[in-house]
Amino acid sequence: MLRVFSVMVMLFGAVALVGCVPVTPDPCDGVECPDGQECVDGECVAVDPCEGVECPDGQECVDGECVAVDPCEGVECPDGQECVDGECVAVDPCEGVECPDGQECVDGECVPVDGGDGDPTAGAAFYTDNCVGCHAADGAGGFGPNIQGYTAAELQAGVEEFPAFHGMAITADDYANLEAYLAGF
Ligand code: HEC
Repeated sequence: MLRVFSVMVMLFGAVALVGCVPVTPDPCDGVECPDGQECVDGECVAVDPCEGVECPDGQECVDGECVAVDPCEGVECPDGQECVDGECVAVDPCEGVECPDGQECVDGECVPVDGGDGDPTAGAAFYTDNCVGCHAADGAGGFGPNIQGYTAAELQAGVEEFPAFHGMAITADDYANLEAYLAGF
């Protein structure tokens, strides 16, 4: 009985020995890597520039520099929405849509510019008499700035802001007509 036991002990010992994994040499031993690279598993790879870089809260390391974490990282938005500042918002259907002169994008489609209730012909006449010399025939500007597409309210505000150039009498109707005329450019 004692004999059987000691044989088993020896067997266990042998199994334990065989189970030992021989120490493998470090594959990076003796490997010299150029500047900016380090040896990993025997191969030279670029050193991660973010290794050891600690960034404050809300920032992450990118190419060795701490930058603000994109609040949209990992945010998945449903169809027709996109992530802006971490929130899903409806994609502007007019994004990237370019409309020809006299048209504007509304809900993703180019439609004639809504010039308000004004009369573009009367607007053209008033404009030619009073504004064209300084703002050019198409409103693109010259001596005065570009006022294409300005609304009646914007025109009035601009005119009143610079009275030195705008001594003429302009009624609300005139502004509406001017808006209708300038909307065409
Ligand atoms: C004598 C030249 C002159 C005439 C005539 C003139 N403007 Fe101007 N206008 C200017 C100048 C110059 C400015 C810019 C002033 C500045 O920025 O200091 C200006 C600015 C404006 C602005 C403000 C634009 C902005 O984006 O701030 C509007 C709107 C405007 N004009 C509309 C008109 C309209 C409408 C008429 C005709 C009824 C007219 N102007 C006639 C010279 C003129």
